[in-house]
Amino acid sequence: MLSHTFSSMATPKKIHLVFCLLLCSTFLSFFHCALSLLDPGDEVGILVQADNVNMVQSNRDSRMRCDFSVGKWVYDDSYPLYDSNCPYLSSAVTCQKNGRPDSDYEKWRWKPSDCTMPRFDALRFLGRMRRKRIMLVGDSIMRNQWESLVCLVQGVIPTGRKRVTYNGPAMAFHAMDFETSIEFFWAPLLVELKKGSENKRILHLDLIEENARYWRGVNILVFDSAHWWTHSDQTSSWDYYMEGNNLIRNMNAMVAYQKGLNTWARWVDQNLDPRRTQVIFRSMPSRHNRENGWKCYNQKQPLPFFSHLHVPEPLAVLQGVLKRMRFPVYLQNITTMTGLRKDGHPSVYRRVINQDERQKPGKGLSPDCSHWCLPGVPDIWNEMLKQVSSVILKQIEKGSKEDE
Ligand SMILES: *[C@@H]1O[C@H](CO)[C@@H](O)[C@H](O)[C@H]1NC(C)=O
Repeated sequence: MLSHTFSSMATPKKIHLVFCLLLCSTFLSFFHCALSLLDPGDEVGILVQADNVNMVQSNRDSRMRCDFSVGKWVYDDSYPLYDSNCPYLSSAVTCQKNGRPDSDYEKWRWKPSDCTMPRFDALRFLGRMRRKRIMLVGDSIMRNQWESLVCLVQGVIPTGRKRVTYNGPAMAFHAMDFETSIEFFWAPLLVELKKGSENKRILHLDLIEENARYWRGVNILVFDSAHWWTHSDQTSSWDYYMEGNNLIRNMNAMVAYQKGLNTWARWVDQNLDPRRTQVIFRSMPSRHNRENGWKCYNQKQPLPFFSHLHVPEPLAVLQGVLKRMRFPVYLQNITTMTGLRKDGHPSVYRRVINQDERQKPGKGLSPDCSHWCLPGVPDIWNEMLKQVSSVILKQIEKGSKEDE
């Protein structure tokens, strides 16, 4: 085929030369690829294509060939990686301290099918993140993840060399000797939610700058936003939607979600440079409370598998929006893996349980089946986050060397 196409336009000698060049470059790029796989760093096991990577982390062209979302939970006695005395935890997630009697839920790690996910190594992580800002943006489950990440690293930092600062909707944990900050920014809907006339709460589907101005200059941005969009009328945190000058009373929740995400996507596309910033969007974890009330109470084991796989609507909407973006955003898909972890929620151990309540567990206490006990499931999201972001970081560094 090839020689046939060539024969009309080139002499056999030239063909020979072209072939040789092709072969050589294939060999060289293979060699290059093999070398990057042999790198003694901690990403062994992840295949990263090394073909002139300028742009990064796109799911679309699957440079990140290991799909972390496919795998299984394996029991590992060497977990957890810290304990519930970590001073940065909110009391609503310190399940052991609050009296939860079982602790196996702390001991499961995630084993992706096609690669390894090494244990979180705090010093290594901080070394990689030297002079970098990491910001987790989103709702209370993102806050949950932030507390996990801070607890994963804080143990290796001496007292006095770490502190937390607050600035409006943002808070930051500083590892001073590394000049690293791990920040949380409260923006459960990403777009702007403001008070209008007569104290009406208005969700501006096309405005984001008031939040987004805090995101500039951050090296690694991790987003989540889904649960708040699905709150039903009574629990929703706005009275009206607004688009341009139009005040809208009712809108399909998923249509509104898509509009909000599009505003976010436009901002990212227009304001961030993929050679300087990594953007990761973490999908929504499964909740176990909505339709089935008590489903997380007294659960002690992960489910081994799903009898039928259900992709929640917000995830499909999110995927559609990310696909249409110019900026290569990595979709960290944890929906299915967390769906198996009914055992990981605080349930009634969202606060200290007294003796009487212990005798009649569950009576008069509303269980929390949305957030996660710590240590616990979000630690695994952060192990995954660390893997994903070091791969992207390497590609960025490589890309910027090629630019020089
Ligand atoms: C998320 O992961 C699950 C499990 O691997 C998969 O079934 C689902 O299609 C994924 N969803 C997206 C949007 O990638």
